[in-house]
Amino acid sequence: MALTDKNILLCVTGSIACYKSVDLYRSLKKEGANVKIIVSASAEKFISSYIFESFGEDVFRDDAFKSPLSHIALSKFADIILIAPATFNTINKFAAGIADTLITLAVSASPDKPKVLAPAMNPNMYANKILKDNLDKLRKYNFYTVSPETGNAACGDSGEGRFPEIEDIVFDVESIFKEKTLKGKHVLVTAGAMREYLDPVRFISNGSSGKMGISLAEEAAKRGAEVTLIALNIMAARKYINRRIKIINRTGFKDFKDALLSEFKRCDILFMAAAVSDYGFKEKSPVKIKKICGSAAGTVLGVELVQNEDLLKAVSEIKKEGQTVFGFAAETNSLIENGRKKLAEKSLDYIFINDVSKGIVGGNENEGFLITKAGEIKRFERESKSELAAKLISGLSL
Ligand SMILES: Cc1cc2nc3c(=O)[nH]c(=O)nc-3n(C[C@H](O)[C@H](O)[C@H](O)COP(=O)(O)O)c2cc1C
Repeated sequence: MALTDKNILLCVTGSIACYKSVDLYRSLKKEGANVKIIVSASAEKFISSYIFESFGEDVFRDDAFKSPLSHIALSKFADIILIAPATFNTINKFAAGIADTLITLAVSASPDKPKVLAPAMNPNMYANKILKDNLDKLRKYNFYTVSPETGNAACGDSGEGRFPEIEDIVFDVESIFKEKTLKGKHVLVTAGAMREYLDPVRFISNGSSGKMGISLAEEAAKRGAEVTLIALNIMAARKYINRRIKIINRTGFKDFKDALLSEFKRCDILFMAAAVSDYGFKEKSPVKIKKICGSAAGTVLGVELVQNEDLLKAVSEIKKEGQTVFGFAAETNSLIENGRKKLAEKSLDYIFINDVSKGIVGGNENEGFLITKAGEIKRFERESKSELAAKLISGLSL
């Protein structure tokens, strides 16, 4: 849980998107955050603050004079103040230094705290230069903006201004707590399971979901990297992948190899978490292979497999000074021995050996051993792939 023990002051202001703040609240709780809520007087017209109370939370209505000094107590409580949805009105008030509501008061008492704005408004309001200038100004004062979505607004207008996806807001909140150790770096991650086709409809593949690679890509983005993810057939793994991550979808060996070698040239760190096929079919039929009419069950269809090129080796041959290559290997036995061998043969800087005898393929958790070029070996007990990704990336020596 990425927000365990983090204190978040969630401020809900009067947009038509207010009802989405309930789902946002639940996502923050799911990640382990402690949440206190202020509901503005206008927001109260769209949703009842009672909804948060029924989850057992402390809810403050927008009357600073009802509970004197609560703005100071709430400011002290907050590690982050999240204004979601953030109205045109309240954003502009922040920029002008107005403090006439409990929300603007709590924010005015928190100059050093990170403040995250999730705007939601009509596209013309969002395009208004007054707002744009004020958002630019607020950036200098510890305010971060989660870019709104583009699409149809409730009023029928279309454009930028819709409340951001909840996952994007939570992602940006989590990012604020991360040290920006990868700022200025370009990280390339590969993820998912390769398909090698026999004919237009049949293929061989494996059970890799891509979750480990997605977790690495997200952790790198949270730490400030520019991230490219070469994704092999991962769409079943996760509906959501953060929009800051550039995704290149690939399917089989040839198109994957082309993307890998071309993207590798401009990356600082490669995490090779994709499950690449060691073998492909010697011949691929351009048409669907039919059952032989009248043949008995048990009739053998002979197909030949040929070994694919070793892509980590190909990468190591073009690797330049300063690039880091982090390999992953699936092993069922002799984990350390096989890991050491691969690390040396492919000139890797790190290798993580997944212990696939323990049923981790396709799941949400992983375990195994990390081996470094310097010969250090570290065991990682079973934990979520996102927790493991955070540990692997924070342990990199670059
Ligand atoms: C039906 C309706 C919908 C509104 N939707 C939005 C909206 O999506 N975004 C916005 O910035 N303001 C919206 N407003 C205007 C705000 O509610 C208004 O500016 C209010 O003063 C905001 O107060 P607050 O910022 O203290 O919550 C809407 C107003 C009405 C009547």
